Amino acid sequence: MQKISVRGGKVLKGTVEISGSKNATLPVMTAVLLGESPSILRNVPHLNDVKTMTDVLTKLGANAVLDDHTLKVDPAGFNQFEAPYELVKTMRASIYSLGACLARLGEAKVSLPGGCAIGARPIDLHLKGVEQLGAKVTIQHGYVHAVASKLKGANIYLAGPHGPSLGATVNVVLAATAAEGTTVIDAASTEPEVEDLVNCLIAMGAQIEGNGTSKLVIHGKKPLKGVDYSVIPDRVEAGTFMVAAAITRGNVLLKKANAHQLGAVIEKLRQIGVTVDETSEGIRVVGSGEYKPADVMILPYPGFPTDMQAQIMALLATVPGNSIVTETIWENRFMHVFEMNRMGADITIDRSHAVVKGVKQLTGAPVMASDLRASAALILAGLVADGETLVQRIYHLDRGYEKIEEKLSALGADIKRIS
Ligand code: UD1
Repeated sequence: MQKISVRGGKVLKGTVEISGSKNATLPVMTAVLLGESPSILRNVPHLNDVKTMTDVLTKLGANAVLDDHTLKVDPAGFNQFEAPYELVKTMRASIYSLGACLARLGEAKVSLPGGCAIGARPIDLHLKGVEQLGAKVTIQHGYVHAVASKLKGANIYLAGPHGPSLGATVNVVLAATAAEGTTVIDAASTEPEVEDLVNCLIAMGAQIEGNGTSKLVIHGKKPLKGVDYSVIPDRVEAGTFMVAAAITRGNVLLKKANAHQLGAVIEKLRQIGVTVDETSEGIRVVGSGEYKPADVMILPYPGFPTDMQAQIMALLATVPGNSIVTETIWENRFMHVFEMNRMGADITIDRSHAVVKGVKQLTGAPVMASDLRASAALILAGLVADGETLVQRIYHLDRGYEKIEEKLSALGADIKRIS
């Protein structure tokens, strides 16, 4: 099994180009299934999750081929409506086939995703949304089966106990494009990846108002055509490299990073004492000697993203003083804490709070990655730890970071993948 070895102590310097967004690519890949002609998606990252979504599209009968960073999708053969357990269990975003299959075929059968390392991950809002559009939903043998002879526009309130749901918004938007009449989604997710999906659907001919806001108005049943569309840069990859520059006291220019989508992360880094400049070339991050602790509250967009929680915690673990990180989205998303403590960090968990007492020096250790962003955070900690950090279970990392070790190595990190 592959591992990543990091030897800490190098100061990162140079330029890194941010790849296309994983979390934008996956919904857009299902959206183009709704076109009456083939689509071309550009800036698509080479990631295992993209490969899995390609397998989902193939399973549904469509043709999807990734060449360089361009994905061609021909939905002509899209006539199957089942996303099987084997695919959904490896990638939860397969659940987006629910909305796409209902919209195009009037029927969907999708394996229930279940929980994962970061929490329970329910889909009740997805199901409530499509039911309100007229789908009849049953759950049997671990599968959701939804049937709709006719989808009809509705007023749908989509917030759950933790706020808006990105995934439910994606599914309901997809299904609503095929519904007769108007759908109004209140408390829709405003995350940039939803905005990108809606931009893609609009380019395909959909009539959607309120993009980027929590109220989306979808006038359905417009014929959708194929599109030539470029996905947005990955804000989580950008945020991860910002922390890499900050934690090593480096000086890194992030090309193609979009500062508007990283407001909460940039603001927090500045509060800690990191210099972040928005330039015409990209975002420049310069680490200084003196950092201050900071409290971080994880919230739905535009708040501080849950997908950056583990990475900012790696930085705060090295900042003298007490910081409190509060996770409000995923109840179980602190698995990296135990591994960071094995590297000499001093972090205690009290329900949804992590109390981080910054230490002067982390020490390298063999560690186990529990999920995608935790893997990145352990590498970040390894960049400044004394000696070697050996990150295991890096298949998580390959789901969502394109060539991370090559990119970090080009910036001067001592990092390599070993078998
Ligand atoms: C969420 C994050 C997203 C991140 C992803 C992976 C938010 C709003 N979304 O997206 O930024 O990239 O995790 O880390 O931060 N929920 C329900 N019922 C549902 C669906 C969700 O109660 O049917 C709850 C979840 O338990 C969670 C919250 O709503 O507490 C947000 O979930 P959701 O946005 O749907 O999850 P993802 O789409 O995976």
